[in-house]
Amino acid sequence: MHSDIKTNIATFLGRAALALALAAGCGLASAQNTGQDVASTPPAAAGQASRIEWWREARFGMFIHWGLYSIPGRGEWVQWNEQIPNNEYARLAGQFNPKGFNPDTWAELAKAAGMKYTVLTARHHDGFALFDDGANPYTSVNAAAHRDFVADYVKSVRKSGLGVGLYYSPMDWRFPGYIFPDLQRESAEAMRAQYHRQMEQLLSNYGKIDVLWFDGGETDWLNFGGEWKGAAWSKRPDGQHYTGSFSWQHDKVHTMLRRLQPEVVINGRADMDEDFRSREGEGALGDFDNQHPWELCTTLAGAWGYQAGKLPQPLDHYIRLLVNVVGRDGNLLLNVGPRPDGQIDPPQAERLREIGAWLAKYGQSIYATRGGPFLPGAYGASTHRDRTIYVHVLKWPGDRLVLPAIPAKVLRAQILGGGKAGFIQTAGGIELSVPPAARDKIDTIVALELDVPASGIKPVKALTTRN
Ligand code: GLC
Repeated sequence: MHSDIKTNIATFLGRAALALALAAGCGLASAQNTGQDVASTPPAAAGQASRIEWWREARFGMFIHWGLYSIPGRGEWVQWNEQIPNNEYARLAGQFNPKGFNPDTWAELAKAAGMKYTVLTARHHDGFALFDDGANPYTSVNAAAHRDFVADYVKSVRKSGLGVGLYYSPMDWRFPGYIFPDLQRESAEAMRAQYHRQMEQLLSNYGKIDVLWFDGGETDWLNFGGEWKGAAWSKRPDGQHYTGSFSWQHDKVHTMLRRLQPEVVINGRADMDEDFRSREGEGALGDFDNQHPWELCTTLAGAWGYQAGKLPQPLDHYIRLLVNVVGRDGNLLLNVGPRPDGQIDPPQAERLREIGAWLAKYGQSIYATRGGPFLPGAYGASTHRDRTIYVHVLKWPGDRLVLPAIPAKVLRAQILGGGKAGFIQTAGGIELSVPPAARDKIDTIVALELDVPASGIKPVKALTTRN
């Protein structure tokens, strides 16, 4: 993301050297490793805590990037990257008409993948809305498709029993006011009016929305990080923020969304009190954090919006990723970019079904669990629910895995999927062993049954190995 924007601003204004300002402006959630018990959640967060419960238990969702950009098939940033004039890009709306498309296929695939919620780009940065927005001509309702895709999507996903999520970008490249919020004030205000209006439509017209996923709504994203003031077009100094007088008035949207959809959970990319934090890309996996609900979003096949010929990684890659995310107490939102006709490339769909087959077998160690108490390390990660700790051994250090001591008695150690694991518990820790023939190639999951609930055990580090 950062490098995309960097390259593009340089193209747009013929100037580079914005890297630091952009890094400061992109507002990715910072992960914290507090290692404390969840029981210490402050009372002010109580509403959030109950709203987010189902989402936390869900653990795995599908992100869907789909829009006009799916037609050229060079990613959702294609208009900006290639500096395609608005009127030229808008012609794609005349071609965006996937007649036979039925979003039941998305919902069915998400379910088969073991996902529990989906998030569709109702409107990305190009400004083209997949929903009814009255007289606004730039929507799928008023263009070739004459179809409210958000309505169709919500219906299918709701029917399938999955959580319904919408992605929405307040920013819109078509408005010069986004780049020059102070100089082009009227344009910036028109963009803001569109944002507030469209939020109201999305939150009023489609029944219950479970997740609202903002992107590009941070104030520091305005004008892409530059302070375009004075004779010198200088970059925004490191650590400084947008200081102009334009405001998104996010507080009004926040009040409205809580009034219209009190239960909707929102991420933190629009300077609002968030229910969960977003980490983006596998490089942002970060630390264990059981204090703030968080979600890692990343791509299944290296692209958000459709790009032809992108192949997924082998199955084990996603299992390890999922285990590493859930073991850090986060959710995973895995993205697909369907083709313009709404179909998901078969190799990607196949991989999703394989992930689902794995989850059908081992899902009890993922869904409705919390991360820990054994912190992630070279061996893998752990999750827990009730009196069981699931130790996900992704890499055996040798004959046995030595886990640190915990204030609980291990009553039994079973291999998930069948068989007993050996364990020796002493004051110094727990030694686990599974004969090589009984180990799983991807993830050997050892369920430790305790005499007390695992939620009372503080996260513990310090793994040592012994051969
Ligand atoms: C990055 C991309 C954006 C995408 C988002 C999803 O910010 O630039 O296009 O929608 O990731 O998190």
